[in-house]
Amino acid sequence: MTDDITELEPLTPFRRWWDAAAGLEDLAEAMSVATATADGVPAVRMVLLRGLDERGFVFYSNLDSRKGDELAANPRAAGCFHWKSLARQVRIEGNVTVVAEAEADAYYHSRARESQVGAWASDQSQPLPDQETLMRRFAEATARFDGQDTVPRPENWSGYRIAPERVEFWQELPHRLHDRLVFTRDGAAWRRHRLYP
Ligand SMILES: Cc1cc2nc3c(=O)[nH]c(=O)nc-3n(C[C@H](O)[C@H](O)[C@H](O)COP(=O)(O)O)c2cc1C
Repeated sequence: MTDDITELEPLTPFRRWWDAAAGLEDLAEAMSVATATADGVPAVRMVLLRGLDERGFVFYSNLDSRKGDELAANPRAAGCFHWKSLARQVRIEGNVTVVAEAEADAYYHSRARESQVGAWASDQSQPLPDQETLMRRFAEATARFDGQDTVPRPENWSGYRIAPERVEFWQELPHRLHDRLVFTRDGAAWRRHRLYP
């Protein structure tokens, strides 16, 4: 049940549900993120939640990827978490902004050096003739930064923050009589309501 959610805002219960899922399953931080072109053609893919606070949900990616192009043209996204072991889903929707340079730098430099180099090797979402080309580019980038203490963050690699306007908590219940609790933003506050399953 969503009866454990007594808060008047969604962030605290989200953290509680996420913590519970993380104790039970791998990749509890995985969420699908849907974007759409300016004329409304949707696309969805998985990403990892790497930051969360009252400003929103942060994931990192290549700004020149397909999702990056779509977010540049239409800066709105929807995300969905599914935690199988708890039979729960959380959906979020909102406007998207690119995180501050310092925030992106901090996360980028927390990653394994190989992952930092990999960001230089990959033109995410662009056509790739063969896997050897990617491996050659990775080797070239590795050689380029060899001997340097830090690998600089590519300008087109950063984070996106989804500032939630709607957060829905969904709990599976018997007979498809599932429990849905929705928070919608109302200025600085939030409204709560329930939906039929
Ligand atoms: C579990 C999982 C987590 C992923 N996490 C990320 C991520 O955090 N950032 C990212 O750019 N791609 C991530 N990917 C790859 C994306 O799903 C996608 O293939 C890639 O971002 C290109 O998407 P696009 O062409 O729509 O931009 C992940 C894939 C999986 C399966």
